[in-house]
Amino acid sequence: MSRASVLIRTATESDVVVLRELWSDVLRSTTRDEQMADLRTVLGTAEEDEDSRVVVAEIDGQVVGAVHLRVTVVSTLNLDRMVLAFAPHVMPGHHRRGVGSALMEAAASFAEERGVGLVGSAALSASRDANRFFARLSMGPVATLRLATTNGLRQRLPAARQVRSTSASAVSSGRHIDRVLAARRGRRSARVSS
Ligand SMILES: CC(C)(COP(=O)(O)OP(=O)(O)OC[C@H]1O[C@@H](n2cnc3c(N)ncnc32)[C@H](O)[C@@H]1OP(=O)(O)O)[C@@H](O)C(=O)NCCC(=O)NCCS
Repeated sequence: MSRASVLIRTATESDVVVLRELWSDVLRSTTRDEQMADLRTVLGTAEEDEDSRVVVAEIDGQVVGAVHLRVTVVSTLNLDRMVLAFAPHVMPGHHRRGVGSALMEAAASFAEERGVGLVGSAALSASRDANRFFARLSMGPVATLRLATTNGLRQRLPAARQVRSTSASAVSSGRHIDRVLAARRGRRSARVSS
């Protein structure tokens, strides 16, 4: 597909409907109204913080892509500053026209304006498109974010496994005692009747 003429601008509240459509797979799974409310909160926060911005890309007056930009640190312990370009998304039907690159150009400018030397983003490990896109921009993989439910994690920890195996052995030793007592009762009643 041919390169398009892409206009980049800061998102406003009037973009909430299209942003919800674009980011449907990264918003929390809840009702449409709650997702819209979440986006209004995100836009409101970005408006008040000069180190955050929601950027949209337009072709012919139509929003076809967006990215959330925020100055943060590399990790909880590595306090080097970086711009996190979160969820650069382009509408299906507009891929490979330079829209994603235009959004990442906005991320680079945002970082340069603030003197920040690093730009990071995240891609689903399974998304070939996203990983190729980032690789092309020299953005290599650094870490894999792993998630579990708190309960799922608890069940797999050694303490929980030990509780399970202790209660399993308590059940089996309980069964053994039942069998010994039943055998004794059997022997006693055999002596009485003989
Ligand atoms: C990843 C994504 C943002 C790329 O947007 P885009 O507008 O298509 O990207 P561009 O047109 O600027 O592509 C720039 C270069 O990246 C590479 N690239 C992009 N998509 C690619 C793909 N599907 N396969 C291989 N290379 C790809 C190409 O080298 C491309 O240059 P070329 O078209 O001249 O070959 C878009 O595919 C998208 O929204 N995907 C779904 C959401 C997503 O996964 N977002 C990223 C992480 S949250």
